[in-house]
Amino acid sequence: MSLNPRLNNWHGKTVWIVGGSTGIGLSLAKSLVASGAKVINSARKAQALQDWADACNATLKTGTPPRAVALPLDVTNAQAVQAAAQTVLQQGPLDMVVYCAGYYQEMRATGFDLAEVLRHENINYVGALHVLDALLPALLKQAAVVPAHISLVSSVAGFRGLPKSLAYGPTKAALINLAETLYLDLQDLGVAVSVINPGFVDTPLTAPNEFHMPSLISADQAAQEILKGWAKGEFELHFPKKFTHVMKLLRLLPYRLYFPAIRKMTGL
Ligand SMILES: NC(=O)c1ccc[n+]([C@@H]2O[C@H](COP(=O)([O-])OP(=O)(O)OC[C@H]3O[C@@H](n4cnc5c(N)ncnc54)[C@H](OP(=O)(O)O)[C@@H]3O)[C@@H](O)[C@H]2O)c1
Repeated sequence: MSLNPRLNNWHGKTVWIVGGSTGIGLSLAKSLVASGAKVINSARKAQALQDWADACNATLKTGTPPRAVALPLDVTNAQAVQAAAQTVLQQGPLDMVVYCAGYYQEMRATGFDLAEVLRHENINYVGALHVLDALLPALLKQAAVVPAHISLVSSVAGFRGLPKSLAYGPTKAALINLAETLYLDLQDLGVAVSVINPGFVDTPLTAPNEFHMPSLISADQAAQEILKGWAKGEFELHFPKKFTHVMKLLRLLPYRLYFPAIRKMTGL
């Protein structure tokens, strides 16, 4: 039994991607438009969004209304999120919102930097709360007619504490917990919820990493995995399985085994 309605047919569906100017969000935006959806894409880089929209719309048959819409936005600005959400909702019922905005800088306790920690918190977690605040009443209101789906992009880095993940990891753990709680609260009210936990994906976010990233996949591969997970109606979408299964196993270990295992695997 699937935990969410299966999403196989994107024709006529409207999706708001928050954080799709590059990386996983951008690949997802391209794939969804190619699958027939209308995609509204938000992030700060207005020109990158417009370039994506122009390129996507140019692939549509002449006379077809544009299905790629750029809506620039900074998720840390609650008022801007409210205004953008109103723009999105004015275009008709929303079938899905994907919170993909993310920020990562490695940090260890020995280099604790409060401003950086709060920057992660504001982009990765509080931004998602701004989006929920702006959308939830409308999504609940439309649910009987058009059931919506909220999908939050977290990470395997949210499973447990990891070295160098002091600023990033806790925000991703919070997103997983938030998605679980939203699911319990919204499942019976016609709003589906899913959480996406990727392993390593080759994007601008991971480009500065100097260590070997096991089972690294491309952003396009990640987008295909996400579409597959939504089509199956999964609550948790995680990939690539070769890597995420190991992370899930580590999640089950008692602390006396987990800490030495992580030290051995990372050398930190
Ligand atoms: N790459 C991986 O290995 C990996 C693994 C697990 C999870 N993830 C998660 O996947 C998501 C996408 O990351 P990615 O790897 O594709 O990295 P990315 O290419 O750097 O994408 C991050 C996106 O977030 C947007 N963003 C950042 N700050 C923002 C702000 N203040 N307001 C609005 N948008 C903002 C960026 O757009 P602008 O700069 O234009 O604002 C960009 O579109 C993130 O949540 C990340 O944590 C990535």
